Amino acid sequence: MPEYLYHQLERQLRQKISSGQFACFSKLPSVRELCRDSKLSKSTVLAAYARLEADGLIEAKAKSGYYVCQHQDPEKPQLSTPATSSPQSLPMLITRTQLILDIMQRGAAFDLLSNSAPQPHNQQLRKALSRALRNQSSDQQLYYDQPQGDKKLRLQLANCINQGGGHLSAADLIITSGCQHSLLLALMATTEPGDLVAIESPGFYGALQLLEALGRKVLEIPSSATDGISPDALQLATEHWDIKALLISPNFATPTGSCMPQDNKRRVLALAQQKNFAIIEDDIYAELHFSLQRPRSLYSYDQSGCVLLCSSLAKTLSRDLRLGWIAAGKYHDKILGLKVATCMANSISQQQGVALFIGEGGLDKHLKLRRQQLHSQKQQLQSLISQYLPMAKSASQPQGGVVLWLELQENINSLELYRRARAQGLTITPGSIFSAQDTYQNFLRLSFAHCWTPQRIEAIKTLAKLIEDY
Ligand SMILES: Cc1ncc(COP(=O)(O)O)c(C=O)c1O
Repeated sequence: MPEYLYHQLERQLRQKISSGQFACFSKLPSVRELCRDSKLSKSTVLAAYARLEADGLIEAKAKSGYYVCQHQDPEKPQLSTPATSSPQSLPMLITRTQLILDIMQRGAAFDLLSNSAPQPHNQQLRKALSRALRNQSSDQQLYYDQPQGDKKLRLQLANCINQGGGHLSAADLIITSGCQHSLLLALMATTEPGDLVAIESPGFYGALQLLEALGRKVLEIPSSATDGISPDALQLATEHWDIKALLISPNFATPTGSCMPQDNKRRVLALAQQKNFAIIEDDIYAELHFSLQRPRSLYSYDQSGCVLLCSSLAKTLSRDLRLGWIAAGKYHDKILGLKVATCMANSISQQQGVALFIGEGGLDKHLKLRRQQLHSQKQQLQSLISQYLPMAKSASQPQGGVVLWLELQENINSLELYRRARAQGLTITPGSIFSAQDTYQNFLRLSFAHCWTPQRIEAIKTLAKLIEDY
């Protein structure tokens, strides 16, 4: 089979990096230079760079170009990826609320040091929001927004979502008060109290909280830290249990950062159609990809209406906006009624402000920068782990999102570590909250959502010391 041009170029670049011809931290030729010198098209060069970037060999810096990343120190062991999980295949009820409340009071543990160095405001967003508020007519304050949400915002969001595949229209979307709200509505629409909901394991603790609050049972399905839920394990589970819904994050799941390969997405979708269960797709991290294109959603493949796509602007733009959405397929009308029942309406002016911001290209611009920041912060965290936490057993290698999953020695109970870290002013996320079972005790979720200031690097060193002393 002939080798694709971008493969050829990737191979040559790889060789130059490994031989040291392109030194660590050095700038690589610009895309234009490489096109000119190698007589290749821009898309070929970009594809080769994207593959090297996905493997962590190079990184793109905003308005500057591509750079060679720090090579792994051969003296230090390279961490393997955590093994595929093997939770008990038994339906369970859940009790995790108290600990999760404590973590939420400390900023949801996306920062080891809460509020240590605030990020600058997005001025364009601020201006768009205040413009919308200034333009608000006086009678607007006397009315609730229409149940489905602001049409202009839905139009803008539909355009953004379709860039990742599919052909959703503004009419398919319902605005919600965040992704957690969307997940709540989706669970209420597709299941009854006592019903069984399958989730990936480890899985998002917010989903476990919802299942607990709604009195649904949970079945945890083995999942890989690279590829997400196992379609084989899911198929086996459907042969034993009457699963009513599957709640998953196919793209950059928390806590592992796993991303399902396309074939697995198709298999899971086919299974849902065959066994007649709903898929609640949490798509909140999909836009935070480190390669050229966002991975496709399960929703974009679905023709049957069994997938409910849930997402929000919390991870991409602002947690404070409390704006999310749901594309609910055949459950659309039911969800509309449940939205009004659970929150009545969303703020009209805020939706208008965000629609203005997206329409002016603000979100695209912001995302380009954010992806580059996150990619580089992830690589720095990986370096910090090999430098200060060499005792760790394995770590996931996410290609997007804001977190990675770290496995420590078996004797370490991360819940106890949480208490000890808390006493030192640090917030970590213990592994056990990502399951309804007593598993993942020796795991931690670490976030790279914030830049690695000297204070945060000190916090990693303190954490390392706590682990060493354990
Ligand atoms: C996977 C996942 N889904 C949903 C949410 C909640 O999102 P929102 O803040 O939009 O309600 C979070 C927040 O941490 C999350 O990690």
